[in-house]
Amino acid sequence: MAQQEVAEHIAQLRREINYHNYRYYVLNDPIISDAEYDALMDELRALEEAHPELITPDSPTQRVGAQPAEGFVKVRHPAPILSLDKATSGEEIHAWWERVSKFIPPDAPPPAWVVEPKLDGLTVVLHYEDGLFVLGATRGDGYVGEDVTANLRTVRSLPLRIPVTPNGPQPPHRLVVRGEAIMRIEDFEELNRRQAEAGEKLFANPRNAAAGSLRQLDPRITASRPITLLCYGIVEADGPVPPTQWKTLTYLRELGFPVSEYIARFETLDEVIAYCVGWIEKRDTVPYEVDGLVIKVDDLATQRAMGMVGRAPRGAVAFKFPAREATTKVLDIGVNVGRTGVLTPFAYLEPVRLGGVTIRKATLHNFEDLQRKDIRIGDTVVVRRAGDVIPYIVGPVVAARTGEEKVYRIPKVCPSCGEPVVSPEGEVAVYCVNVACPEQRVRRVNYFAAVMDIEGLGERTAQLLVERGLAQDPADLYYLKREDLLKLEGFAEKSADNLLAAIEASKERPLAQVIAALGIRGVGGTVAQLLARHYRSLDELAAAGREELEAIEGLGPHTAGAIVEWFANPRNREFIEKLRRAGVKLEQEAPAAPIEGPLVGLTFVITGTLPTMSREEATRLIEQHGGRVTGSVSHRTDYLVVGEAPGGTKYRRAQQLGVPMIDEAQLLRMIG
Ligand code: IVH
Repeated sequence: MAQQEVAEHIAQLRREINYHNYRYYVLNDPIISDAEYDALMDELRALEEAHPELITPDSPTQRVGAQPAEGFVKVRHPAPILSLDKATSGEEIHAWWERVSKFIPPDAPPPAWVVEPKLDGLTVVLHYEDGLFVLGATRGDGYVGEDVTANLRTVRSLPLRIPVTPNGPQPPHRLVVRGEAIMRIEDFEELNRRQAEAGEKLFANPRNAAAGSLRQLDPRITASRPITLLCYGIVEADGPVPPTQWKTLTYLRELGFPVSEYIARFETLDEVIAYCVGWIEKRDTVPYEVDGLVIKVDDLATQRAMGMVGRAPRGAVAFKFPAREATTKVLDIGVNVGRTGVLTPFAYLEPVRLGGVTIRKATLHNFEDLQRKDIRIGDTVVVRRAGDVIPYIVGPVVAARTGEEKVYRIPKVCPSCGEPVVSPEGEVAVYCVNVACPEQRVRRVNYFAAVMDIEGLGERTAQLLVERGLAQDPADLYYLKREDLLKLEGFAEKSADNLLAAIEASKERPLAQVIAALGIRGVGGTVAQLLARHYRSLDELAAAGREELEAIEGLGPHTAGAIVEWFANPRNREFIEKLRRAGVKLEQEAPAAPIEGPLVGLTFVITGTLPTMSREEATRLIEQHGGRVTGSVSHRTDYLVVGEAPGGTKYRRAQQLGVPMIDEAQLLRMIG
């Protein structure tokens, strides 16, 4: 090939690759396979290797590979990178508007507002000259930031060159764009899994992961981190730019910049407020962390004319969602013993308010997690409470350590019974294997009572019954006498009779409930129902072999093994006999009807936001029609249901495995 031809071919390859990059990373809508993409990259790399003089900084091969820097160079921003005033309720939004609307010039157009997600990441300022990405900086103090160009180049959704298309806009010679570098939640979790496997430190949240990755001195490390970019403003331009925020967002999108899909424009403040409040519910369905919404006066000339208070513009306000994280101190670490003997650490915390409740304790999941996060007694920690789940500790604030913190040691004996604990090979769990361990007994009784719907038998009563030797195991509940109960603190004639009646009533529970109440590892409500569909009685289930169980759709080999093992244990058999003698119903007329429907045997995974349903609604719908929904894509997945802004990991995995992708409309058609 002649030099001229090579140059043209290279240019063509770059255009093609950039376009596919854009489809993949900005639109989330690739049109070629990973292999095809790799082939294009390989071809370009080979040509550039043979003709190094033709390598340009905007070539897609140049995203990675820069050498580590000594430190970051300071960059002065062309205009201050402002922060925002905040509001936390509809009233406060009204109050904000009341305050600032006085500053609107008399000749301004009628007010309109744009509402955008407030992205929880790291602000970046991106400079383009003649369409080429030449400089990228962090926010710093708002006036001077740090040059992180080499790192930003590795961010795949960042255009290294603004593509000029025949129908698209022509960018000004000089264009400075503001955006937020973030990490999608799915990518963040995947990154932390990788970090854990490599024995590296975990990131506390997506924000820290994005910020930490971007402020790496070695861009090769940044390149290995899944950072995403979303842009929302023009800081400076030397040519005509759109007059409104709404048009700016459209314009940025047309130029090939990634812009959040969750943007909206309103003409009344009441609509703005209704929208903002509605978002609080929705925030967990968004694929990245959103800590609020930003409300902006749409007309940019008006916004500018309204001026500033301190460092914040009057023409915009952040509507902050209720916090889900807070910092507090670990006062001590305690250990719970579960019904299967698993020891679970938890933290006693200095009481802290979060999302309307006071938190005093937080689970630590298991000892491995505790050690990996390196949580010490006395540490300042970040606690998090999402939705209605139990609060947990995200991680320590290492910078706040004084040296007085104490490293926690895994106990060698059970805190309840004092017997030595064991940790089986290959398992992270630590067990107390003493069947007579009082705390295990309490948990077993409590669990059984909860699953069998025995009203009035809470943790406190379970504890009393075990302490007094009235219940060694849950079957003893059926042998309790009125006079036994009357001797317990807090029991009078009426409460004793009520409890006895509740216990009596539980003898007639459906077989599935009894199976679930046995507390076999891996057998919760759903699996118990599955089993009750196959067997008429507990005896039939007890007689089932491992292979037979494994053949049941939806039952994994681990659970099948756990069931066989459980029934093989003479103590458990004796427990069943005790239930039988007490008159607990252990069989049913006929196995429960198998689930029917057009989706029987099909496994679905859902990603992104569906147009008309929440994920929970879609899951219920699929299950009602016989299908199954799981959380991650594997070779067992039949369909990936794709909504707006699908998660990168699920999407890529489905592509790799060739899992068919459908949208909500297609799903509804399958159901008919
Ligand atoms: S606009 C003139 N829009 O939130 C308006 N900021 O407290 C200035 N942020 O660190 C800011 N998402 O970088 C704006 N859609 C968004 C944003 C956003 C996140 C950040 C911003 C700053 C902080 C403001």
